[in-house]
Amino acid sequence: MHDVPVLEPLTEGASKNERYLALRRYVDVLTADEPDWLANLANVSAAIYQQLPDLNWAGFYLMRGTELVLGPFQGRPACIRIAIGRGVCGTAAATQTSQVVPDVSQFPGHIACDSRSRSEIVVPIVVDGRTVGVLDLDSDKLRTFDIEDRRALETIVNDLMPRIDWAAATRS
Ligand code: SME
Repeated sequence: MHDVPVLEPLTEGASKNERYLALRRYVDVLTADEPDWLANLANVSAAIYQQLPDLNWAGFYLMRGTELVLGPFQGRPACIRIAIGRGVCGTAAATQTSQVVPDVSQFPGHIACDSRSRSEIVVPIVVDGRTVGVLDLDSDKLRTFDIEDRRALETIVNDLMPRIDWAAATRS
């Protein structure tokens, strides 16, 4: 049996950058030797939820047919199906552009899966020009996410891209 790698301990008052560097290394070791897409996405959502402060939800929606369907996540049960172009997730999927939402009440069409969510970031996952899913993080505080989160999460999604069998993950 393999041991589960552990997250490097962070020093008290670690910066956002230090947190993300440790998270990036953790995602790398968690997924390096494992071909199973479900196991990898499950562990990555757990690593993000464990490592970043102020989250109430972290996980993936996967493209299935013409809509996004709930994938591995941490947090309370969430909306299962999201149409492309709807809400923050559907907008990120349709535009293939990350969405940083400092206040979800100001985002037209935001889908409230959990009434505690006050800010959100969604990073699209695009393979060969096709949206295969999104990474979605919710926070119970306003303005949790900024450009630094966006860049760091986009880097982590890029690292993850070749580690996932997207054809299998998006089979409907
Ligand atoms: N708020 C998202 C829906 C997904 S949940 O936050 C987990 C949206 O507007 O797309």
